[in-house]
Amino acid sequence: MGLNLGILISGRGSNMLNLVNASQRGLINSKIKIVISNNKNSNGIDKAKRKNIKTKIINQKEYESKKDFENALSNTLKNEDVELVCLAGFMSILSKNFLKDWNKKVINIHPSLLPSFRGKNAVKQALENKVKTAGCSVHFVDEGIDTGEIISQERVPVLSNDNEETLGKKILKKEHGLYIKVIKEFERKCFNGKT
Ligand code: GAR
Repeated sequence: MGLNLGILISGRGSNMLNLVNASQRGLINSKIKIVISNNKNSNGIDKAKRKNIKTKIINQKEYESKKDFENALSNTLKNEDVELVCLAGFMSILSKNFLKDWNKKVINIHPSLLPSFRGKNAVKQALENKVKTAGCSVHFVDEGIDTGEIISQERVPVLSNDNEETLGKKILKKEHGLYIKVIKEFERKCFNGKT
């Protein structure tokens, strides 16, 4: 049994494409109902279109207020019967106004072992802090920046010659596996009537 997923992106969309491929290849039972970008120049939108996924650009700059923008987001997701919203490089903080309708139904992937290194440049932050182990996290989204309850994490050893690019690539690979693992867990819990 699968869920209807809506994916929100802002940029290149590799996590989005990974979920689309997993769905289309039957690796997960969930279906990607829509991919929405808040950035009209997002490369990810073209990648989704090429996979015949419904897409929409909802550009915050075209709305008078954050509330109007979030209402447009929420209504679009509801119109597609989305049950779980997956943020995948979506660089806008969702407010209480949006989250009140999507309590425990919005998850995000972040390239650090939260609660360490929230926000932007997480991989750079990990290197600057000379950690021996980096990684990635999937967490429920709350009103903070990468602060919601952690669902699952993957660890990546940091080598002495790692730089932002090499470590970032290793973490991104882990992100792709982690997001699929988490979706499968949601599917399993829904099927067992636990959520
Ligand atoms: C990913 O590394 C994701 O974890 C990160 O943005 C990248 C998007 O890449 N998200 C955050 O930093 C959220 N705070 P993608 O567009 O190729 O999936």
